[in-house]
Amino acid sequence: MDKRFTTKENPIILGIESSCDETAASVVCGRKILSDEIVSSADIQSLYGGVVPEIASRAHTDAIAKVVERAVKNAGIDYSQIDAIAVTYGAGLLGALLVGVSFAKAFAYALNKPLIAVNHIRGHLAAAYLQDETLKPPFITLLASGGHTAILHTKTESEFEILGATTDDAVGEAFDKVARVLGLKYPGGPNIERLAKEGKNTVPMPQMFKGNGGYNFSYSGLKTAVINYCHTKEQKGETYEKADVASSFQSTALDVLVKKTVAAAKERKVSTVTAGGGVVANGYLRTALTNACEKEGLKLVLPEKRYCTDNAAMIASEGLVQYKLGNFADFDLTAKASIPLSATLKTVQNKA
Ligand code: KG4
Ligand code: ZN
Repeated sequence: MDKRFTTKENPIILGIESSCDETAASVVCGRKILSDEIVSSADIQSLYGGVVPEIASRAHTDAIAKVVERAVKNAGIDYSQIDAIAVTYGAGLLGALLVGVSFAKAFAYALNKPLIAVNHIRGHLAAAYLQDETLKPPFITLLASGGHTAILHTKTESEFEILGATTDDAVGEAFDKVARVLGLKYPGGPNIERLAKEGKNTVPMPQMFKGNGGYNFSYSGLKTAVINYCHTKEQKGETYEKADVASSFQSTALDVLVKKTVAAAKERKVSTVTAGGGVVANGYLRTALTNACEKEGLKLVLPEKRYCTDNAAMIASEGLVQYKLGNFADFDLTAKASIPLSATLKTVQNKA
């Protein structure tokens, strides 16, 4: 426990996020969101088919002061009322992260308030705390983003176990790569979802439940199968329905997530399920998870779509978890391009 600062029950925390192409700032009071601001450079990035790190860094530099100022103003507070500043320090694009980290350090120093270093992925998990103010561990979480796919068992606010994770590509990454083959723009996930609504599940996909992989996942086989299907059709000069490919891929990629998440909750005898990460904004996944949890009598805490994709409210929410643990950062904090899922919290490694 850090003794430099006394802590409050419901502190006002400013969260700052700049790990990829969104510059975001949010003010929360306890688990209540007072403001949530976001500026994205996705439109510029889509011209290049993906995120160009240097363009992202420049866009963050241009936006950060304005975004933070707006977040504080719209929260209806003065700067002096902020109790702590939480910032994403990793994982992500180094240059992009550095913009947020440098800004947060200067801000915390000027206000003489504690600085909290947040692991971006832990932020995605903490989004559920904002959705349900009464949410308490234990719960099982499905984490599905552009960089991670995992099922976690949170036992206390400071202790969780990784039950399974992807052994190769993350599910969001598979969406983005398949989107590219289908000629859809970045970011691929929402565009596949849109196209899939017009299609049918008629394209054969590889089996995702083979073997006894436990709670692990593998997406590289599925991604390759879709790419091969499209390329073979094109080489033979045959036409195919892109919407059917999108629909077949989407359900194959997402059904396995639902099935394993619910199985983990049942096996662990945990009655609450949460989810987080950009892919959880997908309507097909949200409906399937809601139906499966309802069928099994599990309580599901599903963050609103805007709190599944990158945002700063989730960073402030994880900031609150760390604040309560007295886990404050020093001013030598630096950005990290990659950090393990378990960083900053005590974890129990899965022995299975
Ligand atoms: O969590 P996130 O915003 O950033 C990371 O931390 O990775 O996740 C981004 C990922 C991208 O791969 C994007 O294509 C995917 O989430 N995504 C979706 C949807 N919205 C975002 N995937 C499927 N359906 C969506 N509606
Ligand atoms: Zn993210």
